[in-house]
Amino acid sequence: MAETAKTASLQEETRIFNTPQDIIEYSNAYQWMKKKGFKTEMEMRKWCSDNYIEFWDEMAKTYADWSVPYTKVLDDSGKPYYKWFTGGKINVAYNAVDRHAKGAKKDKVAYHFIGEPVGDARDITYGQLYIEVNKMANALKGAGVVKGDRVVAYLPMIPELPITMLACAKIGAIHTIVFSGFSSGGLNSRVNDAEAKVVVTADGFYRRGKPLPLKPNVDEAMKTAPSVQKVVVVKRTGVAVPMTEGRDVYYDDFVKGQSEECETVMLDPEDRLFILYTSGTTGKPKGIEHAHGGYAVTPAQTTSWVMDVHDDDVFWCTADCGWITGHSYVVYGPLCLGASTILYEGSPDFPDLGRWWSIIEKYGVTVFYTAPTAIRMFMKTGEEFVKKYNLSKVRILASVGEPLNPEAYMWFRKNIGSDRAPIIDTWWQTETGCHVIAPLVMTPEKPGSVCFPLPGFNTDIFDEDANSVPLGYGGNIVQKTPWPSMLRAFFRDEVRYKKEYWDMYWQVKPGTYLAGDKATRDKDGYWWIQGRIDDVLKVAGHRISNAEVESAAVSHPKVAEAAVVGQPDEVKGEKIVAFVILRDGVAESPELAKEISVHVRKVLGPVAYPDKVYFVKDVPKTRSGKIMRRVIKAKALGKETGDLSALANPESVDNIPRIDL
Ligand code: WTA
Repeated sequence: MAETAKTASLQEETRIFNTPQDIIEYSNAYQWMKKKGFKTEMEMRKWCSDNYIEFWDEMAKTYADWSVPYTKVLDDSGKPYYKWFTGGKINVAYNAVDRHAKGAKKDKVAYHFIGEPVGDARDITYGQLYIEVNKMANALKGAGVVKGDRVVAYLPMIPELPITMLACAKIGAIHTIVFSGFSSGGLNSRVNDAEAKVVVTADGFYRRGKPLPLKPNVDEAMKTAPSVQKVVVVKRTGVAVPMTEGRDVYYDDFVKGQSEECETVMLDPEDRLFILYTSGTTGKPKGIEHAHGGYAVTPAQTTSWVMDVHDDDVFWCTADCGWITGHSYVVYGPLCLGASTILYEGSPDFPDLGRWWSIIEKYGVTVFYTAPTAIRMFMKTGEEFVKKYNLSKVRILASVGEPLNPEAYMWFRKNIGSDRAPIIDTWWQTETGCHVIAPLVMTPEKPGSVCFPLPGFNTDIFDEDANSVPLGYGGNIVQKTPWPSMLRAFFRDEVRYKKEYWDMYWQVKPGTYLAGDKATRDKDGYWWIQGRIDDVLKVAGHRISNAEVESAAVSHPKVAEAAVVGQPDEVKGEKIVAFVILRDGVAESPELAKEISVHVRKVLGPVAYPDKVYFVKDVPKTRSGKIMRRVIKAKALGKETGDLSALANPESVDNIPRIDL
């Protein structure tokens, strides 16, 4: 199916779903709208965006506690290095934990932790979380971690993961979470780029009923990681692992005897909270920096306005903390709001396809946020397991990470949302830190559309010359004004930071952020996301760069060159396909193809596993040697390859095979 044709057919979507009036009237955003006297949603959205500084000022005061009030909401004098909440002092850990633990929410559940083995579950209250965070913060201090130091956590979804994040925040250290689905190579490059002092990990984790090892990946990665002084190991599976004398310590021993009190350091709002590596056009991941001030405001505000979480809700965002969605909607958003959240370690289908639904029933989940790939997986496997459980408490459903196709929207709505719950399809990025384009509970929805930019954002669609495109036309998603949880920089890479996000429109409209996605608006102004403009894959919602997979493939001794593209997949969105040029004299074989996939998995991790490897003699390149992935993809999928005049070797296109769909 041609990409443009798909867009056209989506834009002809005529179904509109209205949220039931009682759910609308109960919603936080609706109540704010009424309080302010706006008559319509559009009037409110417009006012909030036109007056974004005033809007974010109110939100910052509503959702965060400042130990010293700020004197200026936004300082835009040093574009694109915007500064928010100047003159104030804050710590997001105070907002996420301390104020609840010291107040009325001390005994309220912060996390319902559910391990993968059935029955392995415990509730952690805000009071208990406070103690755990303090002990870990003191232990980190004891290990010599000071403000600004980087601490890497490479952990499964167990309580020690958010505890480590919050402990770092508390003392002003910067956390860098590496998704546990990356292997030693992915971990090594991130640890070294961040020059981490401490790595927190686990002996292993559970996946589909089996304990799997994690620590060996760390040992491998540590072979060339000179900055790391300490490796803290959580005993999760109890499997014996080698411990390096003087460097490795078990988590229990690390925190043993530490005080249950620890001072929360009040910081400048621009002080860095975390670095999260994400994929871009090159093979080197980008270390996106986020700051305390913004993170204490917009994740909580959007958890309230967009996810519509109220005090008595049980919120479940199924994302892993290794990705941005986990940072904002498993940790900072719900905790700053003082909500109760599910933290689930395992896979959606273990011991059977009813696991998630059993959790929703048992814990009375009311707001459920997941990814299209999971919805499509359940859709494919049928409703049998869904029907076994009572999901009637679910009031709000939400989706993120890739386009939610109308079929999946309808399935989700009918089977999980009892045909009542609105489906909040949220578009945003590691770089934005919070939702940017999404319906509110009150918004009439079109299946497959992310509806409109949220209040406080001035998001637009630009053509190449920085003109806003008319309805019905496509172009680049941009932000015309800054927002509090925006990215602040790339860790130690100012040039690339400016080039990737700010250079495109600098001459005409300086300070315009280029998101990296294309979108269109239909005749009613509804937004339809069309995908990335750069070479970034979205595999089961995980953001992976083509170049990173290529360099992992090329690290195989028999591979001379590789080109990686995404093949459409009805469940995962995309799957990884590699076109490989072997070194001279190496014979092609199905075994070698498999070996290369396995090698990539070993180097980068299971998330980057190429489903197929094809051998080719050459790949199309520009005269400057850049691999033309777009041309390869078009040829492989049997589409028009377009103008080939820029290629140095147009004949190479013929040898790209048509891949099976
Ligand atoms: C894509 C994830 C369509 C988009 C929060 C973006 C989406 C990238 C949606 C960021 C959505 C995210 N519909 N596409 N609702 N949400 N994307 O940094 O291409 O892992 O640029 O952040 O995911 O991925 P990231």
